[in-house]
Amino acid sequence: MTGNAAKLRDGRGREVSYLRLSVTDRCNLACMYCRPKGSINFISHDKILRYEELLDLVALARDMGISKVRLTGGEPFARRDFMTFVESIRRRFPDVDLRITTNATLLAGHPHTLAELGVSAVNISLDTLDREKFERITGHDRLDAVRRALDECLAAGLRVKLNAVALRGINIPEIPDFVAMAKANPIDVRFIEFMPVGDGNLWRPENYISARDVLSAAARSAELVPDDHDRAAGGPARMHRIEGGVGRFGVISPLSEHFCDSCNRLRITADGKLRTCLFSDREYRLRPILRNPVLGLPKVRQIIAMALRTKPLGYEVLNPQAASGSRDMSAIGG
Ligand code: 5AD
Repeated sequence: MTGNAAKLRDGRGREVSYLRLSVTDRCNLACMYCRPKGSINFISHDKILRYEELLDLVALARDMGISKVRLTGGEPFARRDFMTFVESIRRRFPDVDLRITTNATLLAGHPHTLAELGVSAVNISLDTLDREKFERITGHDRLDAVRRALDECLAAGLRVKLNAVALRGINIPEIPDFVAMAKANPIDVRFIEFMPVGDGNLWRPENYISARDVLSAAARSAELVPDDHDRAAGGPARMHRIEGGVGRFGVISPLSEHFCDSCNRLRITADGKLRTCLFSDREYRLRPILRNPVLGLPKVRQIIAMALRTKPLGYEVLNPQAASGSRDMSAIGG
């Protein structure tokens, strides 16, 4: 396989260049908006794709035209030998734009190696800078571990993006603290609108706050200068430079201002199901095909191509009034 394939496009002409690959649905945290404590219906091990199978899928994706791969979970570092897997991807696909999304509680000790491996960026999910609030949101007292990992990332020169789910009544008062953090450090802080994804009983209208309101709150604590580069590059974030600072602050607004028209993503869950849209429950089961000695990768390729032809425009599917979907965010990978 060459990896130099022509551009991959979906049925609506959108370029598809980005694969989010979940390596596990398991997570060591239990965030209130994602997988609260008590919900422990993890997928059994035999249904989780093996690392060799994931490598085969990356090879296929590369060959079809995907250039950017993000490893997600659950929590990717919660899967055994995850770092070895990252090394294997890098060895086999030296030119792939490789990124990781993590809660960073198990990240300490690894940033230096990740930087050496040329991982383009690490996205850290962190909703609060307050230790007690962290425990309330995630169910675990692990903020110190995250802070340590974050410092290691910065020391290693890794590009860091901090993702916070914007939760009215919970972390909105901390926006000035996040802005100050991005001002003092080369970090992109992004507040993401709380989305009704999952089994629907976690989303609360009273916890929702629009990206616009987040931005106004941020603008009260620093001078923000719009930096359109990310949007131009197809990313969903609306970033801002912070006057007199080194990092940036921005928002991601899947609800109030969707970016479905420029969606370039595919998702594969840890149990090998292809999802072309975060807001659609339509899934294509790749695992049995992949494990079938007669069908295998060529058939998987056909299924991906077919699924892309009908990749939805998410806002047609999403109904913010009635949260829908059967799979928790922790099992999709964000
Ligand atoms: N709405 C918005 N963001 C969410 N995430 C998880 N669940 C939700 C939700 N319902 C975020 C995580 C992480 C990323 C993968 O998705 O915090 O940053």
